[in-house]
Amino acid sequence: MSDNNRVLVVGGAGYIGSHCCKALAAAGYRPVCFDNFSTGHRDFVKWGPVIEGDIHDQSRLADSIKQHGVIAVLHFAASSLVGESVSDPQKYYHNNVAGTLSLLRAMRQAQCKTLVFSSSGAVYGESHQGLISESEIPRPVNPYGRTKLIIEEMLADFQKAYALASACLRYFNASGADLSGDIGEDHDPETHLIPRALLATQGKIDDFAIYGDDYDTPDGTAIRDYIHVMDLARAHILALKYLVSGGAGSCFNLGTGRGHSVRQILRQISTETGKKTSFAIKPRRQGDPPVLVADPARAKASLGFVPKYSDLSTIVRSAWTWHERVQRAKAREPKQTVQLLL
Ligand SMILES: NC(=O)c1ccc[n+]([C@@H]2O[C@H](COP(=O)([O-])OP(=O)(O)OC[C@H]3O[C@@H](n4cnc5c(N)ncnc54)[C@H](O)[C@@H]3O)[C@@H](O)[C@H]2O)c1
Repeated sequence: MSDNNRVLVVGGAGYIGSHCCKALAAAGYRPVCFDNFSTGHRDFVKWGPVIEGDIHDQSRLADSIKQHGVIAVLHFAASSLVGESVSDPQKYYHNNVAGTLSLLRAMRQAQCKTLVFSSSGAVYGESHQGLISESEIPRPVNPYGRTKLIIEEMLADFQKAYALASACLRYFNASGADLSGDIGEDHDPETHLIPRALLATQGKIDDFAIYGDDYDTPDGTAIRDYIHVMDLARAHILALKYLVSGGAGSCFNLGTGRGHSVRQILRQISTETGKKTSFAIKPRRQGDPPVLVADPARAKASLGFVPKYSDLSTIVRSAWTWHERVQRAKAREPKQTVQLLL
């Protein structure tokens, strides 16, 4: 393996970061995972070395970059629960903004000049007509979205002043799981629609709700743009190649340009699993817009990114396969304990 292929994946033990590590390895890179395992999983690190460390530890980051001869950094590490960001914003400004500043300092110290950053569709806020393009003025409506926007602005300044090139990838709704079932989505608490609906379908949670069925949408429920996590992973590799070959740093929406309503998701779950999902209807949540769908044109034109796995059937089927596997593994654990006790 050439030393020119090492990439530091900060937050590589998490949902999206681990899928990127797998895709990097398949594309001939050597992912070096840097993670504090606050929300990540040790058994998601399978495609390269791991350094257990915190993003606030600038010297450990700089040493890791130098020691491994890293050519670029992919940065996934963040706190990302919207509700928690409202109740505890300090945690978000500290982990996301101050944490990223520490990473940028370390990169400058180690003379690493290429960064791909996990931004979010949350930078756009709530009032939109039609597809949302990157030229829209971002107006985030919660501290989580604001931290992502501040980081984007910080990255633009670092690019101008220090030639540290960056691509900010604004993910819409990350979803699905690795098609071979190696890794998948396992957040605690889980707040995302599809995994929560699948947990409800498995009977593992009894508080699954549709928030608002009176939106001005065809079936009254909110519409979002779901993008398969394996497509996100491919987009990171395209962004990395784009920057390394001198592409201009920018923000890129990662979405499909198509939206699906909550009821459409539930119908697809029923089709894929043959089961019904129990749910309650609750009032709309503050700040939840009726429709959020990406204009994917810039990522297509500049990065050559076209989603391959983001049809609803592949998303739901891969997520369901993963959830069934996790639940089977969890179901085996207490049995073994009982056998030992007997
Ligand atoms: N999941 C989504 O739908 C979605 C949508 C838009 C943006 N994002 C962004 O994508 C990124 C990855 O999201 P995810 O769903 O994989 O989250 P995740 O929680 O599964 O992964 C985040 C990883 O970062 C690590 N981490 C957190 N703080 C750290 C610190 N201080 N030092 C070192 N490691 C740290 C965690 O242990 C974890 O492994 C985040 O930045 C998130 O804001 C996610």
